[in-house]
Amino acid sequence: MMPLQTPPTDLSPLFTPFQAGGLSLANRIVMAPMSRYFCPEAAPHDGVVAYYRRRAAGGVGLIITEATYIPHPSAHSYENVPVFYGDAALAGWKRVADAVHREGGRIFPQLWHTGSFRELGMKPDPSVPGFDASENLNAFEHTTHRTKAMTEADIAEVIAAYAKAAKSAQEFGFDGVEIHGAHGYLIDSFFWRQTNRRSDRWGGDITQRSRFAAEVVKAIRSAVGPGFPISFRWSQFKQQDYRAKLAHTPQELEQTLAPLVDAGVDIFHASARRYWEPAFKDLSPLTLAGWTRKTTGKPTIAVGSVGLGGVASTAKTSPTHVDSTTISFTDAPLDEVDKVAELLAAGEFDLVAVGRALLADPEWAQKIKEGRSAERRAFAKEQLHHLE
Ligand SMILES: Cc1cc2nc3c(=O)[nH]c(=O)nc-3n(C[C@H](O)[C@H](O)[C@H](O)COP(=O)(O)O)c2cc1C
Repeated sequence: MMPLQTPPTDLSPLFTPFQAGGLSLANRIVMAPMSRYFCPEAAPHDGVVAYYRRRAAGGVGLIITEATYIPHPSAHSYENVPVFYGDAALAGWKRVADAVHREGGRIFPQLWHTGSFRELGMKPDPSVPGFDASENLNAFEHTTHRTKAMTEADIAEVIAAYAKAAKSAQEFGFDGVEIHGAHGYLIDSFFWRQTNRRSDRWGGDITQRSRFAAEVVKAIRSAVGPGFPISFRWSQFKQQDYRAKLAHTPQELEQTLAPLVDAGVDIFHASARRYWEPAFKDLSPLTLAGWTRKTTGKPTIAVGSVGLGGVASTAKTSPTHVDSTTISFTDAPLDEVDKVAELLAAGEFDLVAVGRALLADPEWAQKIKEGRSAERRAFAKEQLHHLE
């Protein structure tokens, strides 16, 4: 690895302000949503307030919170996740938003329904099964349990729950919302042909499989009105299958995302495990965020191994020969951020989300800005056990 030094190239593109619709950010650095499972009472507590405040004070322009459950019992699966409903949790979230604002940051909650990851017997209502686009086909290890194909009534209720959560975000002072449409959870299970075998209006061709996501966006837009930013996170990969692809061609990508643009998405968040990898490598080096921006015309967030070494260093010279199944929860050395700054300056994407590097070091953005890159704390998997 190259020795770390004071900025080898111009990193100023990371620190230019960003403006879109009702959103103004001090810079281009976004904290990626990261579930931390530190809320046994389902409400953000002092430790959570301090955790987000530290990242805002450390110079992050926009924080996207850990995924938080929408107000429907079927949304829950993992425990110790904060919810986005009810007086106690919303009061806790308000303290988080206020603390971030006091440091000059902006913040969106990430709204989550975990779909088929839920099993009968789980909290908060053990009689509620996991919801899915189609009844579970036992195709994946994580769904050896039965999941339920959602009825029209289930769909209407869950869409209303997304809208209610977004309205709460607006009322409690958040700057926008992000919809978690990625990684194999509920919305993604409607997108994906393998998990959506429906023959009604919620299934069928690619555009029809986008209907559920589009209706979620429309309901949110109608609840919050114009001018309240909506970010939509999508991914090619599923937790069930890291090699899966939602869109095999740019045309399929356009068909998937166009209904979401029409429904009112302001910002897309293209979730990749390595931001620099070409999305359609036979066509061009354009990244997933690059293609997302190109096909939607909307501001786009790139993400995936920013500032992390190891795989990142080798992949710079050989981007197509990386094993895409490498697990990411391992220690990672520091790496430079010149490549992501270059792509940002070239207009390939608009914002850069940083996950593990920011989890490791709350002052990450400030250190980069001040040419103190070498002082960054590296990511170590041990840090996942603490909320610092
Ligand atoms: C501990 C941890 C928790 C995560 N939780 C979420 C989550 O709640 N929602 C989500 O969309 N992605 C989640 N992710 C994925 C991150 O948002 C991000 O896309 C991924 O870590 C790649 O960015 P990085 O290489 O900068 O860490 C999580 C990642 C980590 C490491």
